[in-house]
Amino acid sequence: MSAPNLVVNSDRLWASIQETAAIGATPKGGICRLALSDEDRRVRDWFAEACRACGCSVSVDALGNMFARRPGRNPKLPPIAIGSHLDTQPTGGKYDGIIGVLAGLEIMRLLDEAGVETEAPIELINWTNEEGARFAPAMLASGTFAGVFTPDYAYAREDRGGVSFGSALDAIGYRGAEPIGHPLSAHFELHIEQGPILEAEGRTIGVVTGVQSIRWYEATMTGMDGHAGATPMHLRRDALLGVAEIVRAVHALAMRYAPGAVGTVGMIENRPNSRNVVPGEVFFTVDLRHADDAVVAEMDAAFRAEAAAIASRSGLTLSLEETWRSPAVHFDAGCVAAVTGAAERLGLSHRPLVSGAGHDSAYIARVAPTTMVFIPCKDGLSHNEAESATQADVAAGANVLLGAVLAFDRGLGE
Ligand code: GLV
Ligand code: MN
Ligand code: MN
Repeated sequence: MSAPNLVVNSDRLWASIQETAAIGATPKGGICRLALSDEDRRVRDWFAEACRACGCSVSVDALGNMFARRPGRNPKLPPIAIGSHLDTQPTGGKYDGIIGVLAGLEIMRLLDEAGVETEAPIELINWTNEEGARFAPAMLASGTFAGVFTPDYAYAREDRGGVSFGSALDAIGYRGAEPIGHPLSAHFELHIEQGPILEAEGRTIGVVTGVQSIRWYEATMTGMDGHAGATPMHLRRDALLGVAEIVRAVHALAMRYAPGAVGTVGMIENRPNSRNVVPGEVFFTVDLRHADDAVVAEMDAAFRAEAAAIASRSGLTLSLEETWRSPAVHFDAGCVAAVTGAAERLGLSHRPLVSGAGHDSAYIARVAPTTMVFIPCKDGLSHNEAESATQADVAAGANVLLGAVLAFDRGLGE
């Protein structure tokens, strides 16, 4: 049967979002569901059961990526994937990643109820550790699926407590049997914009044409511990003071390239972190982004020079390592057209957008035609417990996702 005028069940989709939001719920209304934590295990178990209940087979690969599959008419065609992530930041919201997976679940439920037979199989994917909050870098498991990282590299990533990705995967029982990486006909992902543009322009749909270039660094500034009362100011080698200067320098650097550029020092571990000790060592991270790889390369050079100068004039030693480089991504024109067409048919206002955030789609774009659908989020806020999107916008995004997937599928049958 073909699929005339199928629309998602908005209430059922919303109920799934609210139900799973209880797993790792924070007092301020967000979610803390770090990758491979016990909360992650619980939401994975919920997800697998929900997928089986609507007739999907569920498999898990050796990185914990979960694949819920619904057969198509032509088993020779690789599946059309709908993917995103169920892990969150430590103070994450209810929508980042989650709506992409749960809209996919709603589509699976709908196709099952309506008895729709697609050309290609449809595969709903929950990618492991998209956020990179517990195990850096972000998009680790989709990147490994796409051949950007080796499995050994992924397994060896450690959280700040020294627990490896591989042992955390085993601890929650999600190192699966399926080999890593298989062909996909396409990959579509619904996500909140995580920025202010759609809301400001009063549009419902962002048709995502690419993802900006990202670099991550880890650094340690070393000075000397000293007594806070007895060490005169001129004799101090205060590592935190040096890092404070670097925080300002990163901000100023991004401002020089704004509005396109952003720069963030997101993590600081001050040692020994005692109120009456001059800090002798500080670990910190830096995140630089711009849509153009060449601009990020310029920012990289400036950042390295300024950080080195700050350390040397303060009598400090800086060790700096680039830990992740995700080049700018340009999504597939055919997938972008499928999303634009779906938004048009539904009469939804839309515009092209480049994603400021990284996404699993950025890596999957290397191995399959890929794009994303964005919907607005309140005040452009994300990676925040107050992250918010409306039921109507989530449903609109899910309907565009459905329309794009079915249109792409029809194209495979022609
Ligand atoms: C991933 O969410 C990122 O953009 O850092
Ligand atoms: Mn996300
Ligand atoms: Mn995120």
